[in-house]
Amino acid sequence: MNVNPHPRSSPSEVLAAHGSQGETGTTVSQTGAFPFTSATQPKRADLPFTVRIVRTDEQLERAVRIRSEAYSRHLPPLGELLGTPETIDRKSDAIVFLAEGKIDEEPLGTIRIQTNFDTPLPLEDSIKLPDEYKGRPLAGVSRLAIKAGPRGRLVKLALFKALHRYCLAKQVEWILIGARPPIEQSYLDLGFTDTFADKQLRPLSTAAGIPHRILSFHVFSAERRWYDLSHPLYLFMGNRFHPDIEIFSSVNNMWARPRTRGKRLRQEKKHIEVPIV
Ligand SMILES: CC(C)(COP(=O)(O)OP(=O)(O)OC[C@H]1O[C@@H](n2cnc3c(N)ncnc32)[C@H](O)[C@@H]1OP(=O)(O)O)[C@@H](O)C(=O)NCCC(=O)NCCS
Repeated sequence: MNVNPHPRSSPSEVLAAHGSQGETGTTVSQTGAFPFTSATQPKRADLPFTVRIVRTDEQLERAVRIRSEAYSRHLPPLGELLGTPETIDRKSDAIVFLAEGKIDEEPLGTIRIQTNFDTPLPLEDSIKLPDEYKGRPLAGVSRLAIKAGPRGRLVKLALFKALHRYCLAKQVEWILIGARPPIEQSYLDLGFTDTFADKQLRPLSTAAGIPHRILSFHVFSAERRWYDLSHPLYLFMGNRFHPDIEIFSSVNNMWARPRTRGKRLRQEKKHIEVPIV
C-alpha cells in the first residue's frame, strides 16, 4: 500500500529547496564543469538536524522508532516487527546512524551499515556476488528509513553523506544494497548502479524471500563520477562542511574529547597514549 502523499523529488530539487546548492543557486556551470571559484570553496552549512552514530540503548530506541514508523507507512506488519531493536543493530561490525531534529530532538531518519571485514554480508546468504566483489571490503546497507515529506528528503541526503564518509574512512570499496521496486529509484538517483548486468530481482532470505534489485556504489570513485556527471550532489557531498553530520563522535581517543579539556589533557601527560615516532 502506498500512502505516501508526497511526490518524489530528485536530489537537485531537494537541495534547491533547502538552499544547499552553489552560492549562486547553481550546482554546475552550463558547460558541465563545476565553477571552482573562491565562492565555492568548502563552506560551512548548518542543517536543522544532527546525524550521529547510535551509541546508547536510548538512541537505538529512537532509531527503531523512526524505522518502525517509516516501514509501517508501506508494510504495517513489518513496521510492527521492527518496533524493537534487532540483534544485528548491536553487532560489532554494524553501526546505526540516527538523524534527529535539533530543536525538538525528533527522530527523522536512520540507516544501518554492516561491513564484511569479519563475516560475509547478510545478503550473501542469498546471492553469489560477481567476481569483482570477491575478497573486497564491502558494506551492506539496510533499514534506511526517513520521515515522510520534504523534511525527510534532506535527511536522506545527509544520511547518505554520512554513509559515504564513513565508508571512505573505513576503506570500504563497495556499498551494497537490496532494494525493492519502486524504492530502487531513490538509490539510482544517488549514483548506485546494478550489481548484476541482468538487473533481475533476486529473493533475499533477510527480507522474507521478497525479490530485491541488488545495487552497488563504488565508494572511492564517487567524487569523480559526480564531478563527471555534473551531479547535483557534488557540492553537498564534497564542497560543503556540515558540522551536524558527525561520523566519528564515538571514536574513543584524546582528539575526540571536547576541546575545552585540552588544557587539562596537556597537564595529565601520563594518561596520553601517543606513539613516539
Ligand atoms: C525508502 C525511503 C527512505 C525513500 O525515501 P524517498 O527517496 O524520499 O522516496 P519516497 O518516500 O517518496 O519513496 C519513493 C517511492 O517508493 C515508495 N515506497 C517507499 N517505501 C516503500 C516500501 N517500503 N514499500 C513499497 N513502496 C515504498 C513510495 O511510496 C514512493 O512511491 P511513489 O513514487 O509511487 O510515490 C522512504 O520511502 C522510507 O523511509 N521508506 C520506508 C522504509 C523502507 O522501505 N526502506 C527501504 C530500505 S531499502
